[in-house]
Amino acid sequence: MAFPALAPAALSSHRPQLSDALFRQFAALIYRLSGIRFETAKSYFLASRINTRVHALGLGGFQAYLAYLGTPQGKAEHALLINEITINETFFFRHQPQLQAFQNDILISLVAARRAQNQPTFRILSAGASSGDELYTIALMLKNLGLAAGATRFELIGVDISQSAVQKANAAVYRNYNVRNVPPALLRQYFTASGGTQASPGARAWALKPEIRKMCRFQQGNLMDAACTAALGTFDIIFCRNLLIYFDEASKQQVTANLAAMLANDGFVLFGHSENIANQRHILHADPAHAAAIAYVKTTPGTSLASA
Ligand SMILES: C[S@@+](CC[C@H](N)C(=O)[O-])C[C@H]1O[C@@H](n2cnc3c(N)ncnc32)[C@H](O)[C@@H]1O
Repeated sequence: MAFPALAPAALSSHRPQLSDALFRQFAALIYRLSGIRFETAKSYFLASRINTRVHALGLGGFQAYLAYLGTPQGKAEHALLINEITINETFFFRHQPQLQAFQNDILISLVAARRAQNQPTFRILSAGASSGDELYTIALMLKNLGLAAGATRFELIGVDISQSAVQKANAAVYRNYNVRNVPPALLRQYFTASGGTQASPGARAWALKPEIRKMCRFQQGNLMDAACTAALGTFDIIFCRNLLIYFDEASKQQVTANLAAMLANDGFVLFGHSENIANQRHILHADPAHAAAIAYVKTTPGTSLASA
């Protein structure tokens, strides 16, 4: 039996909608908590995500939720709001040309340089780590290259503002979508497949084996917060991919300054290919020798934007 088509009015009446005033208040709160800037074009997206929390708490509507967020008891809810509104899209071996260039032109020689300097530990940060796919990809690369078994001790740390993303990273169980770019030999060796059915024999879940998981550590943290990033220590390499695209210039500047403060003097920050940080070149600038790796290096402190 065919169902009667719903009139557009009936459809729209089910779609949660924020008034302009409420949109501005939620957007301002989210910006203050995370640095993420929502433009008015994203009002429907925000409404539908926030609506999930309104329902979970059994509140009467957006206004009641906003009021709750402003109360002392509502403080813990801030993290759950951030869980809802962050975009956690990620997958293993994302943007392979960059990873290949990183491996061939940066990683191997920087690890050798650290050995020559008698520095026993090599530290890599995934900033905006989401469910861990990026950091575990680096761990798989280190294993595959035989570097993980060498004299250098690797510390791989992932940070994300979303608690639920950090939980997923720690659980390290992935869908087909997330592992689709993992080379088959690495998939067989380092993941345990489960969940295929007779009708659909492909695995539904891929659990990363402990030998890779234990190479990585994840924690919740806000990259806008200089105290939080300073506590992470110094890194040889920082991956910051597909994070700044959600930020305005002021937030980009804060995060870029925090990343630069964590970066070893001869270290590299690798940005995503659609990130535009040209206005932060007085803090970090593109290294022309490593353009394929989208690698940035520290600018001499005190350089002005105009002269950078
Ligand atoms: C689109 S994912 C990118 C994941 C991974 N870097 C990649 O490129 O595949 C962006 C992540 O940044 C996180 N994020 C957003 N704002 C943040 C902030 N202020 N501090 C830390 N993480 C943040 C989000 O929660 C999300 O998981």
